[in-house]
Amino acid sequence: MADESRLPALPGLEEARRLIGGASNIFVLTGAGISAESGVPTFRDAMTGLWEQFDPEELASEAAYRRQPALVWQWYQHRRELVAAVNPNPAHHALVALAAQKPVTLVTQNVDGLHQRAGSAGVIELHGNLFANKWLDGCGRCSEATALPGMPPRCNLCGALMRPGVVWFGEDLPRVARYRAEHVAQTCDLCLVVGTSGLVYPAAGLPGVARDHGAPVIVVNPQPSALDQTADIVLSAAAGACLPQLWPQPAPSAG
Ligand code: OAD
Repeated sequence: MADESRLPALPGLEEARRLIGGASNIFVLTGAGISAESGVPTFRDAMTGLWEQFDPEELASEAAYRRQPALVWQWYQHRRELVAAVNPNPAHHALVALAAQKPVTLVTQNVDGLHQRAGSAGVIELHGNLFANKWLDGCGRCSEATALPGMPPRCNLCGALMRPGVVWFGEDLPRVARYRAEHVAQTCDLCLVVGTSGLVYPAAGLPGVARDHGAPVIVVNPQPSALDQTADIVLSAAAGACLPQLWPQPAPSAG
């Protein structure tokens, strides 16, 4: 276990360690807070939230994209550059270590791809991925090969607009991802929730599904969240400091 002096006695820590140590099928749900210590602004933190700069309804919706494709595309390019310039933090790496010790299914609301960059496999991305693209009203033959450069690129064959492969307000979640996330919520024997305000459904409903199926729920968040009522244990701490204290971590690599 990591040096315990690094984290003052946190209420619930010992019980959380015990539950995680005894679990054999862990469902982890993450939100923007797990990437905060990497320098990626969250959506709703007052000081740094991305929404502070833009009205979400103005940019993150199909209607907005049809209305002002260049502005929305540029906002996503800005977010891609920001995320590409940061790195996974100890919280992302701690989840990789956990998955090396026991079965873990990682479901994320994040689109930043930092779990995958840390080494997590089989990540279920409920809200898509910032670095994926797809097409608006595509002809079915649209591809990177048919894309004409532009802000945004357009299909050379049909003129369709390329769009970010993320879920926009009012859109359904990717069907397979949603099914897989609901299945693990129903079958896990422990649910660990990290860094989400718990305000956006259906993702925010998943810990309640786990609880209804008998799994204890642990929340890690330095601030109160809408999921605290669903939790058996709330660890009021930053993910980067807390997660490495919850299960054994690999020894630091030499050199
Ligand atoms: P939010 O910005 O709503 O919430 C981030 C949460 O992370 C807050 O509860 C913070 O207290 C917490 N937090 C901040 N720093 C943290 C840290 N170091 N460690 C742990 N927690 C920390 O982001 P989400 O809950 O992820 O949807 O937002 C959910 C969805 O709303 C997003 O996926 C996005 C947005 O609309 C889509 O884009 C479809």
